[in-house]
Amino acid sequence: MTETKLELLFSREKIDGRVRELAGRISRDYEGRDLLLVGVLKGAFIFMADLIRGMSIPCRVDFVRLASYGAGSRSSGDVRITKDLETPIAGREVLIVEDIVDTGLTLSRLIDLLREQKPSSVRVCAFLDKQQRRRVPLTADYVGFAIPDAFVVGYGLDFNENFRFLPDVCILKDIA
Ligand code: IMP
Repeated sequence: MTETKLELLFSREKIDGRVRELAGRISRDYEGRDLLLVGVLKGAFIFMADLIRGMSIPCRVDFVRLASYGAGSRSSGDVRITKDLETPIAGREVLIVEDIVDTGLTLSRLIDLLREQKPSSVRVCAFLDKQQRRRVPLTADYVGFAIPDAFVVGYGLDFNENFRFLPDVCILKDIA
């Protein structure tokens, strides 16, 4: 049987400092604008909660949930919305809040789907970014941390629905 081991990558203190920096930048960039944050469930729920509490400007929030179909657990790009927005976004400034960008397939499809509704802007704030694994060109506008190609859990991110509750971000390692 394969066992797993957790190795600390980012402590809660480090995460807290970085999320505050991002919140400050977003507040400056969107000052005086009508901002809607769109959180991608489930992974982004903790990041989004901390982000909006660090911001100094008002915003509204909504959530989407996506399912990616295809072989195995890998992202296929065949992405469907299983929980849609409840807010009309035409003419709105939309900032997607995502836990992690990996291949980029999920987010690029979500961006396309949202653009069909004619928002005035769509940008991306990703807590983590695995740039080396990108399969489609996608650059997040705000990134918490760039990370290497490793599987990470905690701070909302899961492995089979486990570990979301961890306050730190850890690398999940297999030990044979
Ligand atoms: P993408 O379409 O390959 O960019 O997939 C992004 C989604 O895959 C994220 O929203 C996560 O749900 C999941 N994911 C990718 N890498 C990790 C990881 O290291 N830990 C937990 N979830 C991950």
